[in-house]
Amino acid sequence: MEKKINIVLCGFMATGKSSVGKKLAEILDREFVDLDAAIEAEEGVSIPQIFAERGEPAFRELESRMVERMISRTGLVLSTGGGTIVNPRNLANLKSCGVVVALTADIPTILRRAGSGEDRPLLQTEDREERVRALLQERAPFYAQADIILDTTSLTIEQAARRLAGGLLVNPTLTTQVKNKKNSSNLPV
Ligand code: S3P
Repeated sequence: MEKKINIVLCGFMATGKSSVGKKLAEILDREFVDLDAAIEAEEGVSIPQIFAERGEPAFRELESRMVERMISRTGLVLSTGGGTIVNPRNLANLKSCGVVVALTADIPTILRRAGSGEDRPLLQTEDREERVRALLQERAPFYAQADIILDTTSLTIEQAARRLAGGLLVNPTLTTQVKNKKNSSNLPV
């Protein structure tokens, strides 16, 4: 029997990875896994606590290890953290186990959706807009390597999930054929 490959959502903070991922999993009747939540469950502490007590490099190590664990699984909708695919090893691992979708949004939308940003250690700064701008600039080349890119700026969670489910996943079982389809990026999903 053909294995269902994973659908991996990546992209900047507050672009909708977790909420769209959850909805997409529901539509496609797949298991949803949130990488950050899996790390928190494993460590028994929150991501902000990990950053505060052990530092970002320790978090990145946990993140890469969790990616390695997830790639042995199939049939998931997996949402990652905003910085996960900045590590080329993580990106390669995730591409090896599924189709990688990058969600994007414009800066005002990111700032609005991020709210106070208290659960996001990288937004704990005076000038959050400047931080978002700088990080986005740094990370854009990594997000651009996704197989598919969907701008969620003017979409609701439901609309984004339905576009992915309908436009991208022609076959809801998403077999390896879909993964091997070249030039699938920027599909009009
Ligand atoms: C991070 C994004 C966060 C979380 C951590 C680091 C980042 O996830 O993984 O705070 O580097 O952009 P979200 O993108 O879900 O906020």
